[in-house]
Amino acid sequence: MKKIVDKLPKPFFALAPLDDVSDTVFRRVISECTKPDLLFTEFTNVDALQSAGRGATLRRLDFDESERPIIAQIWGKTPDNFKKTAEECREKGFAGVDLNMGCPIKHVVKNGCCSALINDRGKAKAIIDSTRAGLGKNMAFSVKTRIGYGNVDLSWIEFLLEQELDMLIIHLRTVKEMSKVPAHWDLMPEIRRLRDRIAPPTKLVGNGDVMSRRQGEKLAEETGIDGIMIGRGVFQDPFVFAGDSPWEDYSKAEKIKLYKKHVELFIKTYPGNSRPVVILNKFCKIYINGFDRARELREELMNCTNADELLEKLNSVK
Ligand SMILES: Cc1cc2nc3c(=O)[nH]c(=O)nc-3n(C[C@H](O)[C@H](O)[C@H](O)COP(=O)(O)O)c2cc1C
Repeated sequence: MKKIVDKLPKPFFALAPLDDVSDTVFRRVISECTKPDLLFTEFTNVDALQSAGRGATLRRLDFDESERPIIAQIWGKTPDNFKKTAEECREKGFAGVDLNMGCPIKHVVKNGCCSALINDRGKAKAIIDSTRAGLGKNMAFSVKTRIGYGNVDLSWIEFLLEQELDMLIIHLRTVKEMSKVPAHWDLMPEIRRLRDRIAPPTKLVGNGDVMSRRQGEKLAEETGIDGIMIGRGVFQDPFVFAGDSPWEDYSKAEKIKLYKKHVELFIKTYPGNSRPVVILNKFCKIYINGFDRARELREELMNCTNADELLEKLNSVK
């Protein structure tokens, strides 16, 4: 059997891992709008997952059959927990495992995790090797990273290309840049040449500031990469993976209907208010936007204390 990365179109489009956003509920809503070729879970901590208190972390690896193909994104500190988690991902039927080596959040980096690995290649290699040991042979193995820590550092990209990965996903900013400057797409042709020289079988995916499928197609064509990953583009347009998005013409009623679908699925997935309603507030601006008195309605909806109340309010909107 082929790995998922060998079955994707060129270019393929992936939904980015988005912590506290791209859970199974939102992934299903987006997939029903226009399904990306590949989905990723939110980043999931392997040390929490392999601890006695793993219950709170487990929901991050929940997915529905309709979300396939889906890859689990993991992060953490202890190489052996990466192996155990990779084994668990195999049992759960994930198409692959992706290592987060790009997250710039302070407490994560302080702990030597994620983007801190850019400056600790020995540890990065130990994590890569340990994860690989837990994967099934048809599972795709990838790393998502940035182009350097303080400065652009293509030796890091070269190092990763030497690891025989199935896919390398590059968010075209340094860690220090956070999301404050435009993504450096101008560097992608050089990175692609490195890939062609060092690791031709590794699929190369670009990420950063892609806001439409058309823009992604153009960038893929210009740079010769295999795939495009889109994150925040879904906040502006849930149909971002469509060639021709209908979102601009969506009426107030249609937008509310889509938010209702999201909330209903949330209630079904996390029954008895087992997940706080504030999670839903993050999505309010996506749907409740671009029509008369949207701001007032948002304020009202965001004051709801649980998801049932929110659904009731949405049902009563004229
Ligand atoms: C709210 C939010 C949560 C994120 N969570 C993750 C995550 O869990 N794992 C990860 O690799 N990147 C995460 N990112 C980074 C995105 O996946 C992506 O690399 C970044 O937003 C740039 O792409 P974009 O311009 O298409 O959004 C997150 C970004 C945002 C805005």
